[in-house]
Amino acid sequence: MMMMKLVSSRVLFLFVSVFVMWVRVNLAEGENGHGGIRNYISWEDLQVDEQRLTLKRHDDVRVIVVNKYGGGHSKTVQGAVDMVPENNKHRVKIYIYPGIYREKVRVAVNKPYVSFVGKRNQTASPVITWNSKSSDRGTNGQALGTFDTATVGVDSDYFCATGITFENSVIATAGVKGMQGVALRVNSERAMFYQVRIKGAQDSLLDNTGNHYFLECDILGKVDFIFGSAKSLYKNCLLQSITDDFGAIAAHHRNSATEDTGFSFVGCNIRGSGRVYLGRAWGNYSRIIYSKCNMDDIIIPEGWSDWNQSDRKKTAVFGEYLCDGKGADRSNRAPWSKSFSYDEVAPFLHKSFIDGDEWLRL
Ligand SMILES: *[C@@H]1O[C@H](CO)[C@@H](O)[C@H](O)[C@H]1NC(C)=O
Ligand SMILES: *[C@@H]1O[C@H](CO)[C@@H](O)[C@H](O)[C@H]1NC(C)=O
Ligand SMILES: *[C@@H]1O[C@H](CO)[C@@H](O)[C@H](O)[C@H]1NC(C)=O
Repeated sequence: MMMMKLVSSRVLFLFVSVFVMWVRVNLAEGENGHGGIRNYISWEDLQVDEQRLTLKRHDDVRVIVVNKYGGGHSKTVQGAVDMVPENNKHRVKIYIYPGIYREKVRVAVNKPYVSFVGKRNQTASPVITWNSKSSDRGTNGQALGTFDTATVGVDSDYFCATGITFENSVIATAGVKGMQGVALRVNSERAMFYQVRIKGAQDSLLDNTGNHYFLECDILGKVDFIFGSAKSLYKNCLLQSITDDFGAIAAHHRNSATEDTGFSFVGCNIRGSGRVYLGRAWGNYSRIIYSKCNMDDIIIPEGWSDWNQSDRKKTAVFGEYLCDGKGADRSNRAPWSKSFSYDEVAPFLHKSFIDGDEWLRL
């Protein structure tokens, strides 16, 4: 009897200690996040509690406020990014008041877990804008090149943004050399964009490397206005062509069948002006898929371009699945593009395409 009591009280003690430890860990996580690195992006990361905004010294704030008219921690977006500690280990939200922010912004690779959250008022949300084009001279006197034209360039992991316009305001005629101007460049391993607007002319969005999720975004441009080597899911986005004559929506770069990359557009609407290709083959194995998209009558009937490299017809993966609208008529499509079956398209339809189960909790 004594023995039993002793054992059970020990067991009870063990349970209580484990419980106390569990509570401590959870409180630490919940209160200040030092409890562990959160290697995922959730809805919470895209929200700022306006009632709890504090303008403390910037070295211990989790929300950095940007207001170009003053009263925040910084008047510029880059100023706020500079306040994020290097090798940052917990989420820092940069909350941006409405206004036009004329600046180039870089989020370096050693500043992970950064959110850009745009505050809206009745009439406006923040716009980050600049106007570099690829033929501009850089500090070394050489042409800048497309990569460095980006108004906003993100190199860090677990970046997310909402409620913001990223713009490159260069006015380019489609296809003219030296006029490429990137509004947003993404090199993050993992990043999410929710309800943002990306606006340029030639080469608006350089979706360069990594796995990315674009949800309900509005992307505007003239030629190759979504381009790069990333693996990205574009869900319920608005793709707006603003070309006067000729253009192309996407140019995905992929050089071999083993590269695990591609652009998958699901449930998007294609609107605007001009005659545009759905995609152009940049590299022999370019991979672009449109599923359940609604296409206005602005798509070049052939639909897809091999970029004048006939061999790419054999290896490019260009396909459509259950699209509708006048532009979706496949009767004059390039015969080497595909009308996918459900089984063929299934791997591209969901967040699992971008390994979302590992890093998105939405
Ligand atoms: C909203 O922000 C814009 C841009 O800063 C400003 O011009 C406008 O006055 C603001 N409107 C209201 C209602 O605060
Ligand atoms: C693309 O394919 C062509 C023709 O087969 C070949 O000559 C070229 O080397 C390939 N390019 C790359 C980058 O593999
Ligand atoms: C492809 O070739 C045609 C005819 O030579 C030319 O007009 C067009 O500009 C070329 N397109 C590209 C993307 O190089």
